[in-house]
Amino acid sequence: MKDSFFELLSPALERLDGGYAGLPDAALAPPGMEQAAAVLAETAERLHDNYPYFHPLYAGQMLKPPHPVARAAYAMAMRLNPNNHALDGGRASSRMEVEAVRAIAGMFGWAEFLGHLTSGGTFANLEALWVAGLMAPGKKVVASEQAHYTHSRISAVLKLPYAGVKTDGRGRMDLTALEATLSKGDVGTVVATLGTTAVGAVDPLDGILELRKKYGFRLHVDAAYGGYFCLASNLAPEAVRAFERIGEADSIVVDPHKHGLQPYGCGCILFRDPGMGRWYKHDSPYTYFTSQELHLGEISLECSRAGASAVALWATQRLLPLERGGEFAQGLEAGREAALRLHHLLASDPQFMERFIPGPEPELDIVVWGVRAGTLAVASRQAQGIFDRAAEGGLHLALANLPARFFAGANWRDACDDSKVTCLRSVLMKPEHLRWIGEIGERLLSACGTR
Ligand SMILES: Cc1ncc(COP(=O)(O)O)c(C=O)c1O
Repeated sequence: MKDSFFELLSPALERLDGGYAGLPDAALAPPGMEQAAAVLAETAERLHDNYPYFHPLYAGQMLKPPHPVARAAYAMAMRLNPNNHALDGGRASSRMEVEAVRAIAGMFGWAEFLGHLTSGGTFANLEALWVAGLMAPGKKVVASEQAHYTHSRISAVLKLPYAGVKTDGRGRMDLTALEATLSKGDVGTVVATLGTTAVGAVDPLDGILELRKKYGFRLHVDAAYGGYFCLASNLAPEAVRAFERIGEADSIVVDPHKHGLQPYGCGCILFRDPGMGRWYKHDSPYTYFTSQELHLGEISLECSRAGASAVALWATQRLLPLERGGEFAQGLEAGREAALRLHHLLASDPQFMERFIPGPEPELDIVVWGVRAGTLAVASRQAQGIFDRAAEGGLHLALANLPARFFAGANWRDACDDSKVTCLRSVLMKPEHLRWIGEIGERLLSACGTR
């Protein structure tokens, strides 16, 4: 397997070192170097106990290999190990962060905004709900029952009341249920998820915005997974309508370490109103002396943050700009097309239909399907068995525990309105997945014992 990482890294590192060539030799001698190669060989052995996340036959959870340019830029930045908390710690990398975040905000149509990178989606959402709680003290946060569990946990940390809102049969927030909750008058913030974790459902943002006119709440969009899909040109009309209005939210989270081709941890929080910076105000007797410019540490809750994340993101966006029709957008479109094909196979090919019940038609690039069986318990057990056998045969899927009502046409005898079933799930994040759907289907059938 050819890895272009080293070819990219070596000349770039030489170039970087050239910038520091005038320094007197410091005879740097990190301890333990005699054993380092042996320890790294052992480390490589230990890493084998991972699924092959970089390969298209890994089609399970949300894991996408970082682009080689992101890995090389990250590794190069490690020579300096900048800290984007303050300009003293990462002057160039802080500027790169500002530029990279501006490009992400631009994707949502925002020129004026406040934003920065975070360690991931959880921390980015934490900042959004923290500000939301300060704007509406004591009021409730609501999100769909399919929203990431981080929202209820963060609300508990922030001591904000929280409620889940029912979803429709495709996992999207149900507007009638939302309105019933809003009419009680105690909601401060609605979280809309554009791309739920389990099935990639896109909440009906246009409908939620209509309700905002009537009930006046703060609207946070968790687009940690789905945000970049606003660049894709092959979404269904309902999802398009939601993404078209994302810029009307008060805050948005998007994770470059999910679909942005970045190493962990790289999340991003954006606020539409730059004035939200006032909530971050604090005194720091140690850090902010070398410049009059705003430091990223003054507008983020985390202090030390990897400047290398910003460097990697900046380099990736320089290579693959966030534009509709560009190579980056085409990669997302390929994953979505792969998901549609797999769903089609499950829904229309008799070999699959006799075994499985497809879940909702994918709105992004995530497919779920249940197992045909007499009862939920048997269907769930068989899903687990297929998952295990597929892995033995080299195909790595995921499992999800989902409402049985997501599987229209299933006749599990014991299913009722709120019962759940364990089903199979595949996140087709890699553009290469498109060419591998046939192979994935073959291996799935083999795992059922029909090959
Ligand atoms: C929609 C959504 N929000 C938030 C998160 C949490 O993000 P992270 O794992 O980067 O903290 C996830 C993770 O999968 C997610 O899918």
